[in-house]
Amino acid sequence: MELLKNIEKRLIEELNPKVKLVLETSRYLIEGGGKRLRPLITVLSCGMCGGNPEEAIPLGVGLEYIHAASLLHDDVVDGASKRRGKSSANVIFGNGTAVLTGDYMYAKALHLFTRYGTKEMIEVVSEAVMEMAEAQVLEISKVGELISEEDYFRIIDGKTAVLFSACTTVGALCANYRYPEQIKKIGYHMGRAFQLIDDLLDYTGDPQKTGKPVANDLKEGKATYPLLCVINQMNKEKVKKILSDPNPPSEEIDNLRKEVLRLGGANKTREKARTEAERAYEILKRLDHTHYREEMERILEFIVFREL
Ligand code: FPP
Ligand code: MG
Repeated sequence: MELLKNIEKRLIEELNPKVKLVLETSRYLIEGGGKRLRPLITVLSCGMCGGNPEEAIPLGVGLEYIHAASLLHDDVVDGASKRRGKSSANVIFGNGTAVLTGDYMYAKALHLFTRYGTKEMIEVVSEAVMEMAEAQVLEISKVGELISEEDYFRIIDGKTAVLFSACTTVGALCANYRYPEQIKKIGYHMGRAFQLIDDLLDYTGDPQKTGKPVANDLKEGKATYPLLCVINQMNKEKVKKILSDPNPPSEEIDNLRKEVLRLGGANKTREKARTEAERAYEILKRLDHTHYREEMERILEFIVFREL
């Protein structure tokens, strides 16, 4: 797709820090891959709302930088060692450089928005980042606990769905679309579906494809939807003991993972993600039929059936 090629080009071009180590670290993340879903959704949203998608490219690039910044920070917070099949940036460059490069990329994103966006877009984007940071703090405050489904959705809405809704909203604003609230909901349901599948892949994914080790969330003491949706059929005290153990034996983690799968946690999670995707689709199909809308529907399908 031509738009994707232009996004890739711009993602590299806009990165021009003067300090070589910042350039190396930010490039390590950007060139390390990624599906570019956020910039794609931004430009497609602009196109399907009747705008010129090319105009949304620098805004989509800004949103991908925010995503990259959040991953740089997240891997430090989680003490992660792998990202996209390679050593994570914190391992290669150290925690300090990873965090500060994240700061650089976040500021760069806002800078792109001041140049190519509007005040309203900056409001949308900065509110999304505030919610992401809050959700991350909520998540770490619940590590080791068996959380409620309500808390789970508060966490994933904040850490993922708000950024996806910022992407679709920015696209709609770029097109001067009259009902950005409707378009915001598309991103919100897409983001929820995305994170549900992310959490599912932690149980069922092939590390070769996802680039992340299996059952990582459980090892980190994080209770996610595949577990929460079958918890009532399990021995809660036993589960709590494993979650709260800072160094759980790998055999126990593996047994817990298998029990979740045996009880149907994976299928239920995929179903839940499908329901969210369906909600996004319901709104999409009320828009004019364009190839941008079709591409957006394809992304929605990819999100639910992806293996990486
Ligand atoms: C990955 O989640 C992390 C996020 C989706 C959001 C992280 C957000 C922040 C660190 C706050 C915002 C900060 C800035 C600078 C914009 P995960 O740990 O479930 O996924 P993973 O398995 O890929 O690590
Ligand atoms: Mg993480």
